[in-house]
Amino acid sequence: MCGIIGVTSTEPVAPKLADGVRRLEYRGYDSVGLATLDGGAIGIRKGVGKVDEVDAQLDFAAAAGNTGIAHCRWGTHGGITHNNAHPHLSPNGKVAIVHNGIIENYLALKQDLQANGHAFASETDTEVIAHLIELELEHGGTLKDAVHRASKQLVGSYALGVLSADEPGTLVATRNESPLVIGFGDREHLIASDVAAILTHTDTVVYLDNHEVAVLTAESCAIYDDGGFAIDKQREKIDWDMEAAEKGGFEHFMLKEIHEQPGKLADTISPRLRDHEVVFEAETGVTAEVLRGIDRVIFLACGTSWHAAMVGEFLFEELAKTPAEVEYASEFRYRNAPIPPGTLVVAMSQSGETADTNAALEEAVRRGTRTLAVCNVRGSTMTRIAHHTVYTHAGPEIGVASTKAFTTQIAALYLLNIAMAQAKGVLNQQQIDSMIQGLRQAPLQVEQILDQNDTIQKIAKHFTSRSNAIYLGRGVHFPIALEGALKLKEISYIHAEGYPAAEMKHGPIALIDKQMPVVVIAPTDKLTYQKTLGNIEEVKARDGVVIAIATEGDQTIAQLADHTIYIPESLYSIGPLLSVIPLQLLSYHVAELRGCDVDKPRNLSKVVTVE
Ligand code: AGP
Repeated sequence: MCGIIGVTSTEPVAPKLADGVRRLEYRGYDSVGLATLDGGAIGIRKGVGKVDEVDAQLDFAAAAGNTGIAHCRWGTHGGITHNNAHPHLSPNGKVAIVHNGIIENYLALKQDLQANGHAFASETDTEVIAHLIELELEHGGTLKDAVHRASKQLVGSYALGVLSADEPGTLVATRNESPLVIGFGDREHLIASDVAAILTHTDTVVYLDNHEVAVLTAESCAIYDDGGFAIDKQREKIDWDMEAAEKGGFEHFMLKEIHEQPGKLADTISPRLRDHEVVFEAETGVTAEVLRGIDRVIFLACGTSWHAAMVGEFLFEELAKTPAEVEYASEFRYRNAPIPPGTLVVAMSQSGETADTNAALEEAVRRGTRTLAVCNVRGSTMTRIAHHTVYTHAGPEIGVASTKAFTTQIAALYLLNIAMAQAKGVLNQQQIDSMIQGLRQAPLQVEQILDQNDTIQKIAKHFTSRSNAIYLGRGVHFPIALEGALKLKEISYIHAEGYPAAEMKHGPIALIDKQMPVVVIAPTDKLTYQKTLGNIEEVKARDGVVIAIATEGDQTIAQLADHTIYIPESLYSIGPLLSVIPLQLLSYHVAELRGCDVDKPRNLSKVVTVE
């Protein structure tokens, strides 16, 4: 996906554009550019590479003009080239545009335009929009009218920032599916793909809804609905502070966010706990009566959020005694999976903007199913689709590899389960008290694991020259094996797979040799510990290198494994909150040792707003 920002002010905007696009860079860093309007002329500065690289060549802050737009790109249509970098211009050079999203009918539109003599400078879908806006301007009306009419021809997702040389000082914005926020600054207005880009200039925002059009100047903000009628929208106060969106002295955002987990877990858990019960009816609208009526849960998610959903499946079955299943959102949306009455569809997302998850959620809503979002970004698209939202209080997660969002998602699901178990009366008060106690202890236990950072960094050295790795876990720790493998592969580029430990004998064991590190999650639990010990012995018998995640005090495993990382003893169902922490640190240090770009890994972006 991409990041867009725009500013119209009473003072030069280029420094704000450069700063904003730097804060959006985790959304895409193939190329970057800005356009500013100085009197009646549009100036463009853009290039291939990350913001710092291109800025060093082109000096973004020197661009003149009090109105401007900027963009950082994760390429979807067309290669990573100068011509494909945004902003794009219309044929007469009088309209400039930046775009986040995918226009699915761009080829047909482009062919029509080419048949009418239009020549294109790029391979992108975005440039087609610039041509359409110019054509609409020729039909009369303002830039706002032209943008509105042009957007009616588009099929797909878009968040647009548009300038016209004929309307100095005016910035027009509109969206469909891709996120867009409007900021109210001091004698200036801003637009951005997310709040982090503009938080230093304002804490007052409005979230644009699909097909709405905003017309901004330094002194005015007018918003129109799809029918072209002026509307008023609720302004929201953002309670993040900029320090929360900075590295706070850590080398990388990812490391900072790993270490933030004790505090963010406490922020997510504590406000919802009262002595002997969970309380979040007031904030979510999820009443005990609603919970009693839930016979089944279907999870929808992608990536790390899908792994959190896998833990949630276990929690609903084990704690709330309620059947649950996990669907890849990208698959569910194209299937006609039956959704029986009494089903709660739970969508999991850090960003709340993942296109596949939102589309699948919309399908569930369309079919009349009750829906709940577990999400980290207040006011994001997902939270406005779902009937209910349980927010994780992880704060802005900048690192592309999700960490604190994952553990706070699990904590949120744990709270929902306690509430459901209470409502259904399926657990007695002693059991509920025990779970609440377990949740309360989790942040401190995570802190204890983080103290092993140096030990884990030493173990990471054994991975740096490896090409493959296997992660094994059983029961509630199988999703953690999947998550540990994803963390390693997405930031260190080592191929890693997660398996149920028992599955190893059904094929993967053929991969085991002295070049294959095998991470085994083996906390002492009554059901599967002995079996997992057997798996470790099978790996060792084939010269595999075993890194074990074990319960404090377990000397048995320490005799078997090549390396052991200990986690505190806990309730089995609390275990995932703890066993994932060493795997997050391990992947971070491996990637760091391999010289990878930990916060902005190749080919990835933080938010996948395309399908
Ligand atoms: C996780 O480390 C990845 N960055 C990715 O799998 C991510 O979890 C996925 O894209 C879903 O994002 P979401 O939680 O914002 O929906």
